[in-house]
Amino acid sequence: MFDDTIISMEVIRSNADKLITPETIKETAIAKLLEFEQEEFFIGEGNAAKVYDLPGGYCLKIITDKSNEPSSDMFLKGNSPHQEAMIQQQMSRATFDGATRAPGMFGVLQATTQADTNAIIMERLDAVNLQHVINGTAELPDGFDIHPFFDDLEAYVKHMHKQEKLVHMDLHARNIMIDRETATPRVIDFGNSIRTTDTTPEIQIHTNEDQDWTSLDKAFNDLDKIN
Ligand SMILES: Nc1ncnc2c1ncn2[C@@H]1O[C@H](COP(=O)(O)OP(=O)(O)O)[C@@H](O)[C@H]1O
Ligand SMILES: [Mg+2]
Repeated sequence: MFDDTIISMEVIRSNADKLITPETIKETAIAKLLEFEQEEFFIGEGNAAKVYDLPGGYCLKIITDKSNEPSSDMFLKGNSPHQEAMIQQQMSRATFDGATRAPGMFGVLQATTQADTNAIIMERLDAVNLQHVINGTAELPDGFDIHPFFDDLEAYVKHMHKQEKLVHMDLHARNIMIDRETATPRVIDFGNSIRTTDTTPEIQIHTNEDQDWTSLDKAFNDLDKIN
């Protein structure tokens, strides 16, 4: 029933509950995907997806493909769940000097029967969504300091652009989280991220990278106003 492309099962096992096997995680994820809307496990949602808690320090991002809906705009369509997972995996494994990182990847579930429902299994962050802080619905973790936070995040985005050759393309406050324990940045949601290739025109690269810097600037200013 599922084409389960398990990209990597060991990446985040180190800080996960060793008693829970990868098979258990996968089976629980599939059960969740089938039951859908299990509100007691609900963590958060965006435009394209809903995120649910899984055992062992994981979570499930259920993505509903809206490309078949009449209202859908072809040009606004983002990555397939597999592309999103590959990019997130690359960013979660990136060798970056700072404290910012992306959630570790576990795998992708592609429903073959329910063709437009897919899910990503990843590390569940213990983090606060920056947009929620800006909205006043969440509190900043202890030890948070806006300048070092954004300095580290900026260095991460620079690394992403120059070393990893990726542009996030949706770097808004809603896709930035603050780790509760360390108050350092976490970048999520690579659903719109794009890869820069050798053939990408320089001007296009700049325009895309600028989009990341503009949205990051806005996140900083929005937080700075209330901080
Ligand atoms: N790995 C994670 N750990 C904890 N919460 C997460 C994680 N990934 C996403 N979330 C929460 O779920 C929300 C929706 O996830 P996101 O990937 O941004 O979905 P969408 O593609 O629909 O925007 C996020 O804004 C965030 O609050
Ligand atoms: Mg999002």
